[in-house]
Amino acid sequence: MDYQTHEHDVLVIGAGGAGLRAAIEASTAGVSVGLVCKSLLGKAHTVMAEGGMAASLGNVDDRDAWSVHFADTMRGGQYMSNARMAELHAKEAPDRVRELEAWGAVFDRTPDGRILQRNFGGHKYPRLAHVGDRTGLEMIRTLQDHGIHQGIDVHMECTVLTLLKDGERVIGAFAYDRERGRFQVFHARAVVLATGGIGKAFRITSNSWEYTGDGHALAYDAGADLIDMEFVQFHPTGMVWPPSVRGILVTEGVRGEGGVLKNKDGHRFMFDDIPDLYKNQTADNEEEGWRYTQGDKEARRPPELLTRDHVARCIVREVREGRGSEHGGVYLDIAWIKERLSNGAEYIKKKLPSMYHQFKQLASIDITAEAMEVGPTTHYVMGGVRVDADTQMSSVPGLFAAGECAGGLHGANRLGGNSLSDLLVFGKRAGEYAAIFAKEHDAGAVNTDQVDTVAQRALEPFAREGEGPYKVQQELQGRMQDLVGIVRQDGEMRQALDEIAKLRERADRVAVIGNREYNAGWHTALDLPHLMTVSEAVTRAAFERQESRGAHFREDHLGKDEAWAKVNLIIRKVGDGSMQVVHEPVPELPTELAKIVEDNR
Ligand code: FUM
Repeated sequence: MDYQTHEHDVLVIGAGGAGLRAAIEASTAGVSVGLVCKSLLGKAHTVMAEGGMAASLGNVDDRDAWSVHFADTMRGGQYMSNARMAELHAKEAPDRVRELEAWGAVFDRTPDGRILQRNFGGHKYPRLAHVGDRTGLEMIRTLQDHGIHQGIDVHMECTVLTLLKDGERVIGAFAYDRERGRFQVFHARAVVLATGGIGKAFRITSNSWEYTGDGHALAYDAGADLIDMEFVQFHPTGMVWPPSVRGILVTEGVRGEGGVLKNKDGHRFMFDDIPDLYKNQTADNEEEGWRYTQGDKEARRPPELLTRDHVARCIVREVREGRGSEHGGVYLDIAWIKERLSNGAEYIKKKLPSMYHQFKQLASIDITAEAMEVGPTTHYVMGGVRVDADTQMSSVPGLFAAGECAGGLHGANRLGGNSLSDLLVFGKRAGEYAAIFAKEHDAGAVNTDQVDTVAQRALEPFAREGEGPYKVQQELQGRMQDLVGIVRQDGEMRQALDEIAKLRERADRVAVIGNREYNAGWHTALDLPHLMTVSEAVTRAAFERQESRGAHFREDHLGKDEAWAKVNLIIRKVGDGSMQVVHEPVPELPTELAKIVEDNR
């Protein structure tokens, strides 16, 4: 088999925020770094975290501190988060944000020139450092500019098919490039996965085409554990109309700046159901909620800033009970603030420029004058590769993971804004420890039989006749959306498991036509096994967890169950190649962290 070989000390797979930050750190440590991205450099899904990055800088409210951020993250994750990760994240996020500023990120400013911070769901204080509603974009631009001068070798439009192992250890990856369809061997002493999420396993998603669960599936196939896969986040506000733009993100920043949710009767339904965990922090009237968004430190948050899992379910309830908007969502209204602010229209355009243009261009809606129609969209997976909190190494030596494809930090539900800070904090850590690992280990040997087998399998669709890959992909997305979506129940998930098994067989037989250059059908065929793996993992874990917690809502097991609060579900590949769900106890909170949680209830 014909393939090119590249040698690096550390190979980073994925060039979003986590991958870029890991590559920068490893390269700074003096090792050679290869950075593989499935798309073009700069076109990472990180740009869809629009509203900001959470860090307790305390620039807008000086009561904020790492301990409050830690407690908010634990509460938001329904106490399922890995406490050590949540601690490191809350402690290190401020330094990572300041570092990004030093590298050239142009944040919005307070009147006295500090980084401005905005309100977001589940964060007690204004905590999100932001750049209008383009924060992820600014983060990628800054990291890219910084990283590009460090001599990192970038391999664009390159998709990894498998990780290479020497014994128990990972020693590289095998990939193909989209442009020519040539195979590539990346030989490396350590590998960092930073491939993002799994949104393309669902029909309605804010995620871009690359999000096919590659890192999750590559790690699982290489023998690593996955954790928390039942917890998939449905962002409450994606576009619902016109159909061509369904699922595109409408940033939580809209609600952070005063946007309110209403049903078709004009009623602010979020006041109707405020969870016990948040009762003392949530306003029970419109006036107080508005004062909070305007910086009144005595006021409590409006209910639109409850956590995403809850807001998404309230929207589903309104729609199901016939109080939804014309096209099956609800209304998100920021135009109303003109009643309170004389410069309201200008304020909206300044704070939310992308949202203004997005609705103007894609839906012919002027958000300074009219309400938007919004509904839940698959946005994020809390579950991912199980890693050591400090080093980000998985259970497989030499294999690290960071960002969305790593699990643990966010527990049962992620707070908005905790993703961008996660990428920086744990991207840096992954790069640092991967470099240390690379310095301490030899290169290992590539098994050419493994490479040849994978290459031959990858080319088989060209030799077949029959069904194409798109239909299989589309059916999978439909089944996951309808049977393992926001509201779940036993019978539907059994059906999903059956159907995934059949779709997997069909995926193994798909045929493609044409040649290897830029062949989108072939690429889809090669993505399918990863999509099948993550879909099965989500469904098996969701089927197993018989309670409702965070983003996982079971119609047949309403409410949280204390026994399940102590259980992490681990997904593991066993000897016969089948997928096993293993129960493991959630580690006890160390006393000092338990006290912080208690003090901040
Ligand atoms: O709504 C948003 O801007 C998304 C942010 C996030 O997912 O962290």
